[in-house]
Amino acid sequence: MDKQVTQKGLDAYWMPYTSNRQFKADPRMIVGAKGAYYIDDKGREIFDGLSGLWTCGMGHNHPEIAQAVGEQLRELDYAPAFQYGHPKAFELAERLTELTPQGLDKVFYVNSGSEATDTATKIARAYWRVNGQPTKTRIIGRAKGYHGASWGGISFGGIGGNRKLWGQAMEADHLPHTWQAQQAFSRGMPEQGAELADELLELVALHDASNIAAVIVEPMSGSAGVIVPPKGYLKRLREICTQHNILLIFDEVITGFGRTGNYFAAQTFDVVPDMICSAKQITNGCVPMGAVMVKNDIYQAYMDNAGAAHNIELPHGYTYSGHPVACAAALATLDLLEKNQYIAQVAELSGHFERAIHSLKGANHLLDIRNFGFAAGLSIAHRDGDAAIRPFEIAQRLWQQGFYVRYGGDTLQLGLPFCSQTHEIDRLVDAMGEAINSVS
Ligand SMILES: Cc1ncc(COP(=O)(O)O)c(C=O)c1O
Repeated sequence: MDKQVTQKGLDAYWMPYTSNRQFKADPRMIVGAKGAYYIDDKGREIFDGLSGLWTCGMGHNHPEIAQAVGEQLRELDYAPAFQYGHPKAFELAERLTELTPQGLDKVFYVNSGSEATDTATKIARAYWRVNGQPTKTRIIGRAKGYHGASWGGISFGGIGGNRKLWGQAMEADHLPHTWQAQQAFSRGMPEQGAELADELLELVALHDASNIAAVIVEPMSGSAGVIVPPKGYLKRLREICTQHNILLIFDEVITGFGRTGNYFAAQTFDVVPDMICSAKQITNGCVPMGAVMVKNDIYQAYMDNAGAAHNIELPHGYTYSGHPVACAAALATLDLLEKNQYIAQVAELSGHFERAIHSLKGANHLLDIRNFGFAAGLSIAHRDGDAAIRPFEIAQRLWQQGFYVRYGGDTLQLGLPFCSQTHEIDRLVDAMGEAINSVS
């Protein structure tokens, strides 16, 4: 183990979303990174099969980002986010609105995905209030959805393990998830299942649209194990939301900035929501940041209804909203995404990845393989009533062999670096096949 980490240090750090006892008995210590690889404390190179936590799609330690961040720190380390501004926040907002679907031209900065989904749902609720419809407060999420760890996120999120310790915080309802056993091993978008969006009509019948503010979904679920939307599903959801005056929020914290082969999944799936939540890849993961992109008329409603010009239209924000260092990192990230054509690379190699990952069909315990763009999820059969044990064992074997993949619930998840080469994809998939077949 790394000499620098003491037993006292190990004992002191309460790690997030981590089996602390297991980790501290057998630490997996990452001490460096370069390109698509981590370096552990034993000097081993480990292929980063999840791009950090879906954060570092361009690979690690880009000198251009380090330089931009360093320069920013020397020039302006912090500026108050409330009532004052600094130029890079405005420059970045302009750049972002050039990338979003048409009409989503307002940018609200946050520091994480959780804050992005809290912010979008707060904007939705207050939007109806400033519009004279204060009863439209209910937020509808989806089973298996992940929207972060805040009170909002665990309420409209739909992963049981993240909620049950706390009970219900905010009022929220849930659409059914779109994973369907009969569509197992679909390549890309499942053919069937668009009608699952019609379940929203049931919730409208139950609550009445006059009480519903917004629907929030990940266009493609990540944390639940990469659940790809069935063909036509998102379009149907959009239609129903429009018909019933319900805002549609896409949580693109994982899909934003390239993962599906376009800047946003909204473009890939050709559905324009009313707001897009983003984070993670916006700075290639190197500085915490997020942004909510909002339709113009929502912003305008706030401006039109706030009274005197010195009144604050939206009493919401964070000390670090639009932090200068995060803005510098995001601008450098956008430059590199464009210059190195990473997103085109995802689109180009996603066919190879699809063929490679589906070659695992037939491996032991494997119940499903799902993929889209540079993301894939595998469902693994439970053992002795324990959903998580096999994915855990498989991921540990892969770590020993030099591959980092994410395990969560009964799934394994891949989010390849955009710079992955075909031989790296093949090596990863071969290693996964061996690891999956080796567990009992
Ligand atoms: C879709 C989605 N939304 C929100 C979040 C929460 O992001 P954060 O952990 O930055 O708060 C995540 C994190 O994985 C996510 O995948």
